[in-house]
Amino acid sequence: MEWDRLRRLATLAKDRRIANLFRDTERARKFSVRAGDLLLDFSKTSIDDTTFGVLVDMAAASGLEAQREAMFSGARINQTENRAVLHTALRNLNGGPVMLDGRDVMPGVRATLEHMRRFAGDVRAGRFTGQGGRITDVVNIGIGGSDLGPAMAVRALAPCHDGPRCHFVSNVDGADIHDTLSGLVPETTLIIVASKTFTTVETMTNAEAARAWMAAGVGEPGAQFAAISAAGERAAAFGIAPGRVFGFGDWVGGRYSVWGPVGLSLMIAVGAEDFGAFLGGAEAMDRHFRTAPLAENMPVVLALVGIWHNQGCGYATRAVLPYDQRLARLPAYLQQLEMESNGKGVAMDGGPLPVPSGPVVWGEPGTNGQHAFYQLIHQGTRIIPCEFLVAAEGHEAALDHHHRLLVANCLAQSEALMLGRDPSAGGMAGGEAAGRQARHRAFPGNRPSTTLVYPKLTPYALGQIIALYEHRVFVEGALLGINSFDQWGVELGKALARDMEPLVSADHPAGHKDGSTRLLLEFVQACRGR
Ligand code: F6P
Repeated sequence: MEWDRLRRLATLAKDRRIANLFRDTERARKFSVRAGDLLLDFSKTSIDDTTFGVLVDMAAASGLEAQREAMFSGARINQTENRAVLHTALRNLNGGPVMLDGRDVMPGVRATLEHMRRFAGDVRAGRFTGQGGRITDVVNIGIGGSDLGPAMAVRALAPCHDGPRCHFVSNVDGADIHDTLSGLVPETTLIIVASKTFTTVETMTNAEAARAWMAAGVGEPGAQFAAISAAGERAAAFGIAPGRVFGFGDWVGGRYSVWGPVGLSLMIAVGAEDFGAFLGGAEAMDRHFRTAPLAENMPVVLALVGIWHNQGCGYATRAVLPYDQRLARLPAYLQQLEMESNGKGVAMDGGPLPVPSGPVVWGEPGTNGQHAFYQLIHQGTRIIPCEFLVAAEGHEAALDHHHRLLVANCLAQSEALMLGRDPSAGGMAGGEAAGRQARHRAFPGNRPSTTLVYPKLTPYALGQIIALYEHRVFVEGALLGINSFDQWGVELGKALARDMEPLVSADHPAGHKDGSTRLLLEFVQACRGR
């Protein structure tokens, strides 16, 4: 891998003004890419022809294309867990068979989808009822990949939401389940326990609390529970009838699971047709990813921009800035997708990673962020590549003026980041004080950004966008030579928390712990013992 060459190019690029690159009048066309009706503009970065050529060559040399085919065709590319990575099969509804160990997984995928359709249809139509009649509220209890995907998507697709209200409980903090359930009526509530493993402490603790809450109002509490899990026998042991257990294979990673049963709450909210359109958008992005040449391949290009900024230029974070209030949970969703996938210091061969791992991902919707942290993005000393997302059109036709303002703000931010403002343009002639003032008002500019534009935030568009990011993570992982599909780094904290729990009670000595942990425990014990 040509990391040194990339770093040398990045050193040269330091003296380059992005704005000057537009002397090439073809730049915007050359440094943008289309996939279906999406446009990704990456011309407001310091990537020039040479850099782009090197990045594309690096992608080709990494064996990315062979790895991509290995993923789509069911090879066990998640080597540390000896698993295939086949979330794409969940949306392969117009494609052919997908073979895993000599067997086509598609009949099972279709059967599960049909099972979801029937159940979601029954809940929406009032054929499946609670003890008090029609279901008015659905509570999805899950965490990480069993929460963030449906929570993000239900919010994103609010204009299509015509089913029962949906709530999401994830945190083991009792405040989460307490505050959610306290507004609900057990007799008309459906609880969905979503956990791939059905062992996650947070989810099982919340599920038990929900069962106790349900039992207080409903004769047979298990009757108003459904489960989503790859461990059906554990769901059965919890008391959920097999007809309401929706299974999936270990070849669907938690953070890639919204396309299957983990999306049940989404399907109940928006209906099977819109859920199908969501899958259709992702399927279209899969086809594009599989067939478009590397230099015109949107997930590949987005990944190469990420590699350039992080491993090339050394920018450690990237901001995801959706100018779309309904994508408010997208940054949180992408934090898990990107950081749990590519936050690793060991390469596939067991050796240390020769470059930094994937970046810190963070963000908030625009325009809110503009009145909070954009100050640092414009004038701070660290460079933060920004990834803007915006719809050409909003859903609220009567509020189109709002949408024009929204789009204008998004485009103005990327323009301001690139162009900056010269102190001499501050309009303050003469005097040291005026000069000082002008320096405070100056914008250095030359700060990179990409912008993704989609026509409107429909289920289809959301499917395209989420699959775009999934494949981007895959490509970055392939270039880094890591396994993007395991997550061993979450285990240590879980194990220590298990041992720590008894020590939180006042009558447990914590003498064997380090000084800091002991101090904290003893303080908590003293407070609780009062
Ligand atoms: O601890 C991390 C993790 O394993 C995630 O990868 C996963 O999405 C989440 O926990 C929830 O896991 P489960 O669906 O098995 O409850």
